[in-house]
Amino acid sequence: MERTFILLKPDCVQRRLMGEIISRFEAKGLNFVAMKLIRVTPELAKQHYAEHVAKGWYPTLEAFITGGPVVAGVLEGLEAIAVVRNMLGATSGLKAAPGTIRGDFSSSRQMNLVHGSDGPEAAAREIALYFKPEEIIGGTPTITPWIRAADET
Ligand code: TYD
Ligand code: MG
Repeated sequence: MERTFILLKPDCVQRRLMGEIISRFEAKGLNFVAMKLIRVTPELAKQHYAEHVAKGWYPTLEAFITGGPVVAGVLEGLEAIAVVRNMLGATSGLKAAPGTIRGDFSSSRQMNLVHGSDGPEAAAREIALYFKPEEIIGGTPTITPWIRAADET
């Protein structure tokens, strides 16, 4: 079982697409184990996007990500990190395949609706950046036997 961090970005919230995106993750069989509506501060943005702070496009990314409420969440499931990244599609909504979240809803290289951790180290770092341990609600939903076979771990 794996956990990954997601962020519904300000464009997702402003465009009233939160429910649509959350529905996709639920329908896929992933479990939300944490979720909250927050504002990203410039300080948090610089920590979240530490690998991009020096890039020429970082200032506009920071303005975007701090420009409205976001929904931070933690999803749990088998291979959750890769499953979510595949559901998001390529970074640019102009390149992302139809059927992916970015491919279906984004026409931008920057306003691409949802962030997802790109690997186990990023997932651990990002979950810890946005959530206290006690904000993560574990447990096995009763529907689990209809989501995957008992021997799939
Ligand atoms: P990146 O980590 O490359 O993409 P991903 O979200 O798919 O992991 O970049 C982080 C975010 O920065 C990306 O979601 C959108 C934004 N971004 C830009 O605004 N301009 C760019 O040229 C790139 C590459 C990314
Ligand atoms: Mg990335």
